Amino acid sequence: MMLENDILVKVKDVSKQYAFGKQTLVALNNISLSVSRSEFLALAGPSGSGKSTLLNMIGCIDIPTRGSIYIEGKMIANYNPNQLADLRAKKIGFIFQTFNLLPVLSALENVEYPLRRFAIDKRRRRELAKRYLKLVGMHEFSGHRPNQLSGGQRQRVAIARALVASPSIVLADEPTANLDHKTGESILELMKQINEDIRTTFIFSTHDPQVMEMAGRIVRLNDGELV
Ligand SMILES: Nc1ncnc2c1ncn2[C@@H]1O[C@H](COP(=O)(O)OP(=O)(O)OP(=O)(O)O)[C@@H](O)[C@H]1O
Ligand SMILES: [Mg+2]
Repeated sequence: MMLENDILVKVKDVSKQYAFGKQTLVALNNISLSVSRSEFLALAGPSGSGKSTLLNMIGCIDIPTRGSIYIEGKMIANYNPNQLADLRAKKIGFIFQTFNLLPVLSALENVEYPLRRFAIDKRRRRELAKRYLKLVGMHEFSGHRPNQLSGGQRQRVAIARALVASPSIVLADEPTANLDHKTGESILELMKQINEDIRTTFIFSTHDPQVMEMAGRIVRLNDGELV
């Protein structure tokens, strides 16, 4: 049984529709899902099934057409854009398929970047960034720009960036899709290690059956519905 207190994310009767010309496209259809603290959860499903849409709702990047999202028990529907940005900065880390590092910043500066909204001094920010770069095994590359790193190395930096503000939850949209199989597996192993060591909750989407096998739980989507 899941205790209500241990539920970090609750998706309740969520639908998302996109207006597309005169048509309405149903990207998510009445989804309900609870994710508890420290889960390592995979979202699986074919292309177009709604995985990214669901991650965007949970990450408060986009809002549902119907239904509610709760993060740590708080319904986010009535948050204003400023409160949402604050929630995202403090509670949620993002990892993307295409790494999305800032090209003009070094690896260390990229990791430090999410801390700019926090009232902590420069030295402490740098220390934290260094600590997380070390955690992902990238401290020797702190001065490298993204284009001076391999795909797997960039994704390690992106993981450090997602973790630097100690979020409760990390959302990863196909984090291994642009990596060869072996590198993808090592990225997943790193995420799993962090999940076990510092108990960060991960929700990641994937097409890769071998990546799914590493999940603690798999949630399957098809045509915007849970199956
Ligand atoms: N901004 C948008 N406007 C209109 N339709 C959209 C928009 N974003 C997504 N969709 C549609 O919603 C559906 C779900 O898309 P979504 O990106 O969530 O799928 P996905 O499971 O992440 O697919 P993939 O595995 O290819 O990344 C698709 O039919 C897509 O075309
Ligand atoms: Mg997607």
